Amino acid sequence: MASISNTRVVRAQFVAQGEKFTAAHVKTETVQINTQLNDGEVLIRNLYLGLDPYTRYLFQNQGSASADLEATVTGLGVGEVVESKASAFPVKSIVLGFGIGWEQYTRMSNPRTLWVIPDPHNPKVPLVEYLGALGANGITAYAAVEALVKFKKDQVVYISSAAGPVGGFLSILAQRQGAFVIGSTGSDDKVEYLLKDLGLNAAINYKTKDLRSELDAVAPKGIDIYFDLVGGETFDIALEKLKPNGQVVAIGNISTYGAKTPYVTKNLNLIITKALTINGFTLFQYLHKFPHFWKEYAPLIANGEIKSQKQTVIKGLENIPQTFADYLDGKYNGKIIVEVANLYQMGTVHSLAQPSIIPDDYNPKIPLAEYSDNLGTNGFIAYAAVETLIRFKKDQVGYTSSSAGPIVEFLSIPAKHQGVFNDIYFDLVSDEVFDIVFEKLKRAALDINLKDTLSD
Ligand SMILES: NC(=O)c1ccc[n+]([C@@H]2O[C@H](COP(=O)([O-])OP(=O)(O)OC[C@H]3O[C@@H](n4cnc5c(N)ncnc54)[C@H](OP(=O)(O)O)[C@@H]3O)[C@@H](O)[C@H]2O)c1
Repeated sequence: MASISNTRVVRAQFVAQGEKFTAAHVKTETVQINTQLNDGEVLIRNLYLGLDPYTRYLFQNQGSASADLEATVTGLGVGEVVESKASAFPVKSIVLGFGIGWEQYTRMSNPRTLWVIPDPHNPKVPLVEYLGALGANGITAYAAVEALVKFKKDQVVYISSAAGPVGGFLSILAQRQGAFVIGSTGSDDKVEYLLKDLGLNAAINYKTKDLRSELDAVAPKGIDIYFDLVGGETFDIALEKLKPNGQVVAIGNISTYGAKTPYVTKNLNLIITKALTINGFTLFQYLHKFPHFWKEYAPLIANGEIKSQKQTVIKGLENIPQTFADYLDGKYNGKIIVEVANLYQMGTVHSLAQPSIIPDDYNPKIPLAEYSDNLGTNGFIAYAAVETLIRFKKDQVGYTSSSAGPIVEFLSIPAKHQGVFNDIYFDLVSDEVFDIVFEKLKRAALDINLKDTLSD
């Protein structure tokens, strides 16, 4: 039975209703997974995982199979198909998927919530965008607006948790339609981000200011549309501030996710007296729109018309427990992405040039990390220099300065030239630069000839 070692994130303990979520609720462990696929299955090498608020639900003991303490936590991720028995997902395709485990490799039995990213090596649209603006957050904002909202110029739009990924994209969409956009958020830094980076008309720190009076001050005639991302008391306040015939698009309830007792809305009567429209939205009805969404919005990200959203990329699955707890605590702004592995581990040369396909990338005896070291640029530079320029003879004496560096570790090339190589191999795409590199390599070879002088 073929198997592979897989580090994964599981629940260490359930989180009780009203209990603060901490890193102690999460743990990482390493297990073996069977890689012998059945028909219809794929094996994905995970590259990036997105942290999302709803994942907290998976830590509540609901007595269902999905709440199994030992199951891998899942969410939205981007990965590379490394084994496939599903023709829609050939090996080497880069996919976005729901149900991707917080782990190195995910074996998917029923890849219905998997989409092939059409142009994954486009340097202007990095893969992390598919977890941010072009991922669940972007499509949530896009589909909610497309399905439910008709913006009119100068309408007053209020968005709660506006500094988050969904709120941020909603803010962009509303501004593009000429709306007057107000956002609320939980820190002064985020307020500054909303005003300076996203260019909102007004931003309110709901933790330090009185939301009611602040909304009155910035929107004295009231609000036309409220995008509710937090629920709870903010929803109640928004009902008060909406104009007659105003609209609520109810997307999230984050303020109530960990609450001991459910929040009871007090202003429901205003829905009737003001003839408000309340639309609930769930992304799961719109997942089929991903290809259409990407076609429309990836070019706008690439040409800078839509600014990429604030992102923090954390490296390593082992950092998930603390990062996720901090995220739920509001300590981050924008999208949090965990880098599990990097598609371009061979270095920048491959992100600028055509990526090289690793020939036997699933060979357990050659871990992928080797392709960022001995089988990557370090090894390649030494190999190319020797193959092109040097004929070793038995018993020759070698001299290498800085012999602890990664290239010289592989083979003796004086380290003072590594700086040159480092500068240059970023540009290895052009033939001209190749020539320059080889010119430098020749000089490196000449320096190796110093050995003769030293041994004399
Ligand atoms: N319906 C759907 O299909 C769908 C899809 C995606 C997301 N959602 C929902 O949309 C909302 C936004 O999602 P997102 O991914 O963009 O995440 P997000 O807005 O970044 O959510 C995390 C942020 O929520 C804020 N928050 C936490 N507790 C709060 C509270 N008690 N009151 C007010 N704000 C609080 C914190 O920021 P502050 O500093 O501002 O407090 C925290 O940083 C969430 O409710 C999410 O569940 C729904």
